[in-house]
Amino acid sequence: MAEIGIGLMGLGVVGSGVAQVLLQKGTALSQQAGITLALRRVLVRNPHKPRPLSLPEGLLTTNPDDLLNNPQCPIIVEVMGGEEPATTYIRRALEAGKHVVTANKEVIAKHGPHLFRLAQQRQVYLLFEASVGGGIPLIGPLQRDLLANDILSIRAIINGTTNYILTRMARDGVDYHTALQEAQAKGYAEPDPTNDVEGIDAVYKLAVLALLAFRTPVPLPQIYREGITHLQAKDFRYAHELGYEIKLLAIGRKENGTVQARVHPAFVPSHTLLAKVDGAYNAIEVQGDLVGRVVFHGLGAGPAPTSSAVVNDILTIARSVKAQARPLSWVNLHTALPVRPLHDLTTQYYLRLNVADRPGVLAQIAHILGDLSISIASVIQKDADPSAGTAEIVIMTHPAREGAMQEALGLIRRLPVVREVSNLIRVEAE
Ligand code: NAP
Ligand code: HSE
Repeated sequence: MAEIGIGLMGLGVVGSGVAQVLLQKGTALSQQAGITLALRRVLVRNPHKPRPLSLPEGLLTTNPDDLLNNPQCPIIVEVMGGEEPATTYIRRALEAGKHVVTANKEVIAKHGPHLFRLAQQRQVYLLFEASVGGGIPLIGPLQRDLLANDILSIRAIINGTTNYILTRMARDGVDYHTALQEAQAKGYAEPDPTNDVEGIDAVYKLAVLALLAFRTPVPLPQIYREGITHLQAKDFRYAHELGYEIKLLAIGRKENGTVQARVHPAFVPSHTLLAKVDGAYNAIEVQGDLVGRVVFHGLGAGPAPTSSAVVNDILTIARSVKAQARPLSWVNLHTALPVRPLHDLTTQYYLRLNVADRPGVLAQIAHILGDLSISIASVIQKDADPSAGTAEIVIMTHPAREGAMQEALGLIRRLPVVREVSNLIRVEAE
């Protein structure tokens, strides 16, 4: 059989998983592809680091040119992570006429349009199935199987670490810091969890999905982002009383030639599929004009699920090379659609306030909301603290404009009877 060589950049969580699959299942996979998959070089930072697998002698290198200038590596698999030097290496590989597979959402989110054009010019593949949802087939279906659809919306739980933390807080009433420590102990959260818990990882993934679903770049600063660090165990108790779960959602919508893109914790009705996605699982709901709602569910991280997506991309390329076919899967973008600012959003809100426990307080708050056309759907008063003379008020509103809600919050904060605006969480209706 003919051979096709692979240069693997990165031998960490994902890279080790990919190398393991290529070494252990290589013969069977090569038979499926009709061409032998040969792992030729592996780029790492530290060649002396202990690894969970043993590679054949002479594969490891710390010199990217051993892959990028190597005619024996027509496929480059980038699983190093980070923006640089990954972007430069991917660009150089494409310029050299090499096919590229990457799991790097940050690179695709920031440089996707440029790299897509480059791949098309050079007539090579740039595949990135593992960049969103790990092993869940999602990029392929958006690029191929749902192509006849106008995609109207995406609502997704695309960060397993935060979903694990939120599930522990919701199910077992543990506080945020305890749940985070557990997520770190289980290897879901990094020692520095900022990217996950502040919603940055989800923003990158939403930007990648918007490229495919809406065929538009969405500049990252225009994606509204709010993490999960301000959620407290009591928010979950109130959510349950009101018939909701709290999930970190990535939401993209196309409406009247504009797009909306936001990542934030949201109240999700308990009976819906998204509300039932627990632990480190991901779920991505896509709504198309023809297909209706489709939900993709599975493990969004980890060496085995992620290598499933990466190796599948390698197989797509190998088969195409074997068939001497031109790549078919370029992403053709439309002109950039305007991004709607958050203050245009209309949604319901959950508002938790700590206030003085005395007559007339609720009336003052209701007055501010009423003046800004924000209608109250329900109010519950909780957790009175007689020694401090305070009480907790939870307000659910009817749909209202975000701009009006933010203005109301500013005024409510200034009321002498309000000790604290403890939380504002948007409600994502069915
Ligand atoms: P990781 O465990 O930190 O591994 C990174 C690897 O890249 C290491 O082997 C490192 O070398 C190598 N590397 C980093 N910078 C390098 C440089 N400048 N030159 C040479 N080698 C370099 O990362 P990971 O978790 O596998 O993630 C890799 C990519 O996959 C990221 O884009 C991530 O977002 C994406 N992804 C990860 C998961 C997951 O479950 N982890 C899931 C989906 C997508 P050393 O080993 O020598 O330090
Ligand atoms: N850190 C990500 C998560 C996995 O927790 O979902 C890599 O995309």
